[in-house]
Amino acid sequence: MPSSGEFGLSKPFIWNCTGNYVSGTVIMKLYDEYVLPYVINCACSMRAIERQRGLVVPEAKGKILEIGMGSGLNLKHYDPNKVEHLWGLEPSQGMRRKAQANIEASDLPLEWLDSPSESIPLDDDIVDTLVLTYTLCTIPNPEAALAEMQRVLKPDGIMVFSEHGVSPDENVKRWQHRINSVWKKLAGGCNLNRDIPALLSNAGFKLDKLNTGYIKGPKIATFQYWGRASI
Ligand SMILES: C[S@@+](CC[C@H](N)C(=O)[O-])C[C@H]1O[C@@H](n2cnc3c(N)ncnc32)[C@H](O)[C@@H]1O
Repeated sequence: MPSSGEFGLSKPFIWNCTGNYVSGTVIMKLYDEYVLPYVINCACSMRAIERQRGLVVPEAKGKILEIGMGSGLNLKHYDPNKVEHLWGLEPSQGMRRKAQANIEASDLPLEWLDSPSESIPLDDDIVDTLVLTYTLCTIPNPEAALAEMQRVLKPDGIMVFSEHGVSPDENVKRWQHRINSVWKKLAGGCNLNRDIPALLSNAGFKLDKLNTGYIKGPKIATFQYWGRASI
């Protein structure tokens, strides 16, 4: 069997049923674009997660920037009377496509930003509320992204958040660290073991309200941090 190198490919490949080869990179791209949005949408629609959204998203007001809007599962949790403008930042085209039905069901004034949060295409001091749900686990460079969030947030603005992260239980934490690299590959870059309060505090956010606890589901992926922060 020829090796990847014989085809001038830097990545491994597999054979498909017609006898042609398909590069592993192409398969991963197809997985990220067409399969992952369904998997993420399904996982993020769990009833316990929906309940978490309802605890933080209705607090959002004014000009709102939702970071990593995904399939738009927060849309129904906003209080429409408080929303002046909503930017939905989401770098994945597949996720933006998956959000279409939720957007059509919503009357909110949504404007997509198809950029990563490490580089937010907005002016300084323009956002009243940052909304961050189940995204800080996935952002490749959370420190750079949080610096950008600080830049665009008004001095009297707030961040509302609900994220999963590292467990305080030593046994659970050990397993989170152990399987993180495999999990990350399968779950679109999601990390199980991020220390959410430390990331926020180290970036200069003040934690005005912080709640923690497990929700229903496997302990490695269900320890939650939710609340409100400011600068
Ligand atoms: C687990 S999903 C959560 C989606 C949504 N926030 C929710 O609560 O359902 C993580 C999202 O982060 C997005 N994402 C990945 N890299 C990102 C980045 N650099 N900046 C912003 N969002 C990113 C992914 O495309 C995905 O939509």
